[in-house]
Amino acid sequence: MKERTTAIERVDARAPDETVIARAAAILRDGGLVAFPTETVYGLGANALDADAVARIFTAKGRPTGNPLIVHVADAASAARFASQWPAVAEQLATRFWPGPLTIVVRRTAAIPDVVTGGGETVGLRVPSHPVALALLRQAGLPIAAPSANRSERVSPTRAEHVQRSLGGRIELILDAGPTPGGLESTVVDVTGSDPVVFRPGPISREALEAAAGCPVSYCVPRRIDGVSRSPGMARRHYAPRARLRLCDGDTAELCRSRTRAGRSVGRIVRHPPATPEIEGVRSVVLPADSVAYAAKLYAALHDLDDAGVDEIVVELPPDRPEWFAIRDRLMRAESKSASDG
Ligand code: TXA
Ligand code: MG
Repeated sequence: MKERTTAIERVDARAPDETVIARAAAILRDGGLVAFPTETVYGLGANALDADAVARIFTAKGRPTGNPLIVHVADAASAARFASQWPAVAEQLATRFWPGPLTIVVRRTAAIPDVVTGGGETVGLRVPSHPVALALLRQAGLPIAAPSANRSERVSPTRAEHVQRSLGGRIELILDAGPTPGGLESTVVDVTGSDPVVFRPGPISREALEAAAGCPVSYCVPRRIDGVSRSPGMARRHYAPRARLRLCDGDTAELCRSRTRAGRSVGRIVRHPPATPEIEGVRSVVLPADSVAYAAKLYAALHDLDDAGVDEIVVELPPDRPEWFAIRDRLMRAESKSASDG
């Protein structure tokens, strides 16, 4: 693809400069690609109503065209305009969790081009809460299709540098507002059936969804219907660092030492306080014991260890408790992806 110059503009995360936002909005209206922060991870945005611009997202990311994009909108009223059916439960979830890290999958209207939905009849909609994302949506006056701003199947970016490293030269602009506060991609919930189904676990738990919806919410078992996956992002190969990731249930020291003895350069990610604080020859990253604080830093730790060039990353598996569910989901996907790479 044609090499482009990627501009980077710093913006204040709380009070973004309107002239910078106006410039980003103009690029979107012209069919260009702008990476911007959300409260979860950085997104790679294009005008969702411009099929050519959206097609460029797939090229820039190397993303399979069957994997649908989330459409970001400024408010619930705009979301409902792109839905051919807006069930009561969608309204309840939107009222409770928007703006915020929840993507609601509904039946789409014809206004949403096929390229956005991977040809499917549903669309994922989300009102982000990050002030930069909201300012951009309002200034552009458009729905913005935006996947995470990383090359396909890699770890999502939580800092502008991560975006620059994977997509620099492929997109027009990166809005840099520093680290994203959440660090884990949004919860994706489908409301097209009788009861809601979680397609991707995330910051908003199933229990919280049930409380707001007043009905049972189940997890999607990844499967194919008529040859098309209902939730392509649930494919097991996803979210992987370049290094091989190994999960370790318990103290990581023994596994780290044996991998080092096998001649591999090893990094590790443990929770505070680590059972073994230092291991010779192993680069350790200690993350917070609290799941929300851990989520905010996990992807940056994976990016940092990848950049340090380690062959393997040993990660202490967090406990099997509801607050760690989404984090464990991402770690297990990353492990199975790197295992299949050999
Ligand atoms: O937090 C987030 O969700 C970030 C920020 C930028 O908003 N976006 C993000 O997008 O993670 P992406 O494309 O990396 O992941 C979107 C997920 C994928 O698993 C995709 O398959 C699923 O949402 N998805 C989107 N639209 C869908 C639809 N209509 N039906 C089923 N799954 C859908
Ligand atoms: Mg992604």
